[in-house]
Amino acid sequence: MPETTFIIKRYNPEKGVFYTSEYKVPYESDTTILSGLIYIKDYLDRTLSFRYSCRMASCGSCGMVVNKKPTLVCRTLIESVKKPIYIEPLYNFPIIKDLVVDIDIFLDKLKFVKSYIIREKEEDLDKEYIVKPEQLDLIKHSSSCINCMLCYAACPVFGSDEEFIGPAALAILYRYLHDPRDQAKSERIKIASLKNSAYMCSMVGQCTVVCPKGVDPSFHIQRLKVISTLNNLFS
Ligand code: FES
Repeated sequence: MPETTFIIKRYNPEKGVFYTSEYKVPYESDTTILSGLIYIKDYLDRTLSFRYSCRMASCGSCGMVVNKKPTLVCRTLIESVKKPIYIEPLYNFPIIKDLVVDIDIFLDKLKFVKSYIIREKEEDLDKEYIVKPEQLDLIKHSSSCINCMLCYAACPVFGSDEEFIGPAALAILYRYLHDPRDQAKSERIKIASLKNSAYMCSMVGQCTVVCPKGVDPSFHIQRLKVISTLNNLFS
């Protein structure tokens, strides 16, 4: 079986120091980078810390930077990347240990954009609502976000100012703004119009490039700019 080298940037929180560790990892044509990390944990070094859960690109917890690119490691084959493989924790987030970052700031942003359906009457939430195919088309892509935060690791605006609401949360805002079951449109447009919201995006577009689920946050943010500008002009 061929093997390759994983070079991992690590952080020791007790000593406050960064260092790198290297490991030889065997792989086959279907071995993912996550499987390689699990191999290291199981057979080579139990002290290595990283997050994962579903192993099937659904939970969003295994985001890391691989060869300088924000990557979901459970859906990336070792065979598909340049070797040796250099792995770092997600950029733009505080590091807790090794490849584990603190995601509180992102969770706060999800809360801020109210990432759930809002109805005027709470009892409405028990009812069934039909979403027509053409209505679903509008929110299908933005609904695919798995909160992996790769887009935040790739975003230079968030990297220079963590106040920016950022790509995933704005894509989610767009999604609820267009959800026919939601009744908080004006509140959502107000959030889109804030100075740390859509207008702060400088259209670099790397969020869209790195998204593992085909969401296009860059497009959604530009649409939010148009919606909030028109709303401000005509209200
Ligand atoms: S382990 Fe769940 S997305 Fe990778």
